[in-house]
Amino acid sequence: MVDDSAEERTLCRILLEEVYGASLQFFEESEAAAGLKTCRTIVPDCVLLDYNLPDMTGLEFLAQLHLEAPVIEPAFAVVMLTGLNNYQVALEAMRSGAQDYLLKNRITGPALGVAIQNATQKVGLIRELREGHARLARSLAEKQVLIRELHHRVKNNLQVIASLMHLQAQATTNETATAVLRESQHRVEAMAMIHDQLYGSADLRQVHLAQQANLLMTNLFNAFGVDSSRISGQVAVCPRPDGNPIVLGVDQAIPIGLILNELISNSLKHAFPKGRSGTIRIEAQSRDGRVELAVIDDGIGVPEDLGTRNNKSLGLQIVEILVRQSGGVWELRRESGTEFRLSFPER
Ligand SMILES: Nc1ncnc2c1ncn2[C@@H]1O[C@H](COP(=O)(O)OP(=O)(O)O)[C@@H](O)[C@H]1O
Ligand SMILES: [Mg+2]
Repeated sequence: MVDDSAEERTLCRILLEEVYGASLQFFEESEAAAGLKTCRTIVPDCVLLDYNLPDMTGLEFLAQLHLEAPVIEPAFAVVMLTGLNNYQVALEAMRSGAQDYLLKNRITGPALGVAIQNATQKVGLIRELREGHARLARSLAEKQVLIRELHHRVKNNLQVIASLMHLQAQATTNETATAVLRESQHRVEAMAMIHDQLYGSADLRQVHLAQQANLLMTNLFNAFGVDSSRISGQVAVCPRPDGNPIVLGVDQAIPIGLILNELISNSLKHAFPKGRSGTIRIEAQSRDGRVELAVIDDGIGVPEDLGTRNNKSLGLQIVEILVRQSGGVWELRRESGTEFRLSFPER
C-alpha cells in the first residue's frame, strides 16, 4: 500500500488481515518514490495506491510504472484509492492502467477483498490472453513454414514426374506415344509452376494471374521450340477495378492453369501450320465479380465440324471439365482465327 496517511495504512492492513489471515504479506510506503522502489523489488500481487501522495499523484505513479511495463502487460494489479466520490479520478486511473478503484469513504474488509480479487483476476486474464496470443503466433509461423515447404516439395515431385515423362518421350519411337507423353509432361509442368508461385507468394495462397499466364506462355513457347520471329505471344491482364492485380486461390489456380496450358498448346499446335505466322494473346480483366479470360490467336481457325464431332478430343474435354470445376462458362468465337472466352467467379 502506498499512502501518506499512517492511519489509512493501518486500517487497511487490519481489514486485509481479516480477509486473508496469515497468508497476507503487507508492505507499506508513505511516498511514491519509495513505493515504486518496493514494487520493483518485491513485485506484489496488488498495489493499493492513494491518489494524493506527497511527491506525485497516483496517476503519475501509474505513468512511472508503465514506463517499465506497458498497460497491456502489467506485472501486478493496482487498485486506486480515491477521495470522497471522486469518480473522475477513478475513471482516469482505470484508463491509465489501474484495474479497479475504491472510494476511501467506502473501505471495508469485503470491499477491499472484492476490489483486489477483481484487479488481480484482470491481470491474470490479460497475462493468459497475451500468452495465448504468443502461442498462436508461434504456431501460425510454424504452419507457414510447413506450408511453404509442402509447396516446395510438391513442386519438386511434379518436376521429377515431368522429367521422367520427358525422358520416356525421348526413348519412345512411336510418334503417338511421344506426343501423348509430351502433352502430359506440359500439364504436369503447368501444375508444378503453380506450386512454385504459391511457394513464393506472401500468404502462400495466391497466384497472380498475369504472372501465371506469362510463365505458361514462356514455358510452352520453349517446349514447342517456337521461332519468335514467326509467332509472338502477348499477355494483357488488366488490374482489378480497385487497382490490385487479379489473383487466384489455390482451388482456382490449378484448373485455370491447366486450361491455359491446353489452349496455348492448341494455338501452337494447330493455328499456324506450314510456317504461317501470327500472334497468340492472353487477355484478362475483372468485371462485376467475375474474371473474363480469353486466349486468342489469328491462325487458321478451328475446323467447321469441331463442336458436332461425336467423340470429342481430349484437350477440349479437359477444358470443359475444368471450366465447370472453376464455376465458370466458356464460348468459342471464330470470327478471325480462334478465340476461347472464359468467365468464372472471383473467389
Ligand atoms: N487454336 C486453334 N486453332 C486451330 N484449330 C484448333 C485450335 N484449337 C483447337 N483446334 C482444333 O480442335 C481440335 C481439338 O483440340 P483438342 O481437344 O485440344 O485436341 P488435340 O489438341 O489433342 O488435337 C484440334 O485437333 C484442332 O483441330
Ligand atoms: Mg489440344
